[in-house]
Amino acid sequence: MFAKDFIWGAAASAQQIEGAVSVDGRGLSIWDVFAEREGAIAGGDCADVACDHYHRAADDVALMQRIGLQAYRFSIAWPRVLPEGVGQVNDAGLAFYDRVVDACLAAGITPFATMFHWDLPQALQDRGGWSHPDSPAWFVEFCVKVVSRLGDRVTNWITLNEPQVHFHHGHLIGNHAPGLQLPLADVLQAGHHMLLAHGKGVAAIRETAGRPVQVGYAPVGCVCLPESIKSEDIVAARDGTLGMHDENIFNNIWWMDPIFGRGYPEDGLRVYGDNAPKFTDADLDIISEPIDFLGLNIYQGHRVRAADDGEIIKSRWEPGHMSTAMHWPVTPEVLYWGPRWISERYQVPIYITENGLANLDWPALDGRVRDPQRIDFMQRYLLELNKAIGDGADVRGYFYWSILDNFEWAEGYRPRFGLIHVDYLTQRRTLKDSALWYHKVIASHGAVLSDMLIEDHPQVQDA
Ligand code: FCB
Repeated sequence: MFAKDFIWGAAASAQQIEGAVSVDGRGLSIWDVFAEREGAIAGGDCADVACDHYHRAADDVALMQRIGLQAYRFSIAWPRVLPEGVGQVNDAGLAFYDRVVDACLAAGITPFATMFHWDLPQALQDRGGWSHPDSPAWFVEFCVKVVSRLGDRVTNWITLNEPQVHFHHGHLIGNHAPGLQLPLADVLQAGHHMLLAHGKGVAAIRETAGRPVQVGYAPVGCVCLPESIKSEDIVAARDGTLGMHDENIFNNIWWMDPIFGRGYPEDGLRVYGDNAPKFTDADLDIISEPIDFLGLNIYQGHRVRAADDGEIIKSRWEPGHMSTAMHWPVTPEVLYWGPRWISERYQVPIYITENGLANLDWPALDGRVRDPQRIDFMQRYLLELNKAIGDGADVRGYFYWSILDNFEWAEGYRPRFGLIHVDYLTQRRTLKDSALWYHKVIASHGAVLSDMLIEDHPQVQDA
């Protein structure tokens, strides 16, 4: 099964769990402001309180320890550290992350800190946000302030979370903060600034830490799956995963090739045409500052097949295909093909920095939260990941999304991704069955994944 040093973790992000948005000097984020727009968030929800993790971090880390987590991926809220985005540091904000990091270390949990998980300070958005050419410098300032404080204890850093989602949803179609609908050219120019921020951020994190650290980047892993095991379908799926065939921002190579020194892909420059950003060779040097690992957030994939002329055709799902509370198809093989192909292309250690299931979990009358579908989901996906590793993908760890039920952006609180159920009225936490099961997975280094889960399925036993 999984190697003994494979890292088992779970993830969350600041805006989705912390709450306390106007406590102890925190500035506003673009999500605080966006959530006030009529109809922006399902159910009229907002992240003002969320899981109140800001006040409950110690208890939450204790729960992580009960699950046996080896690593915890969290993000640092930029407006909590720099309320105006740049300039004056809010010491109370940094002190909070001190507490989180120290609690993790005391519990034997390795912290993985993400610098940007979409919660830009509104003060910077008011100056143009990522469209502003100074945005990479703003990001560097933020990295330096954070790493000066935490760099003696945090060894694993992630610059950015999912630029594809932030730009597609936040800047092109506008259903995420900052809620913009910019022309594609402007979106891609802002995206270019973010990639520059990444490269400069990597250098700043290393330099500020002043000791060996591991720095990575966590885009979405977009995966096409072969409809059959025919070699032409596998080739079509691989081309779909590692190519760009239309203007869609959801692709891998535009957001990964430059990071790994390959420049912007030819395919991308062709499909974006005049909308491609303005950049120089010097920019590409900055963006390709070497990193230590690639994080991939992978949940779902499309199924494709090859037409007779080799063209890639998107297949339909059969009626009633397994799906989640987000209406995302359940496609465990994404954790086979995605890490394999991406690992082959970039030859870099990979962590699955997010993967998980949204369900509509609630405590039963006896108080227990039974979530057999999450267990089944994780079992299926992790078995595929194990197969990918067996076939050569260099995957070093897995972070389940998410440790807690939380504020799922525009979808509000309805979809529940957590291993831990959160009652948002009382802030009561309940470990779901999946958390207890994940404990066994971790303790056995994945060995229990090959057990059939028959104890929960008497009818299977009878058959
Ligand atoms: C990813 C985000 C994460 C969470 C999951 C479900 O796109 O990075 O914050 O919302 O999806």
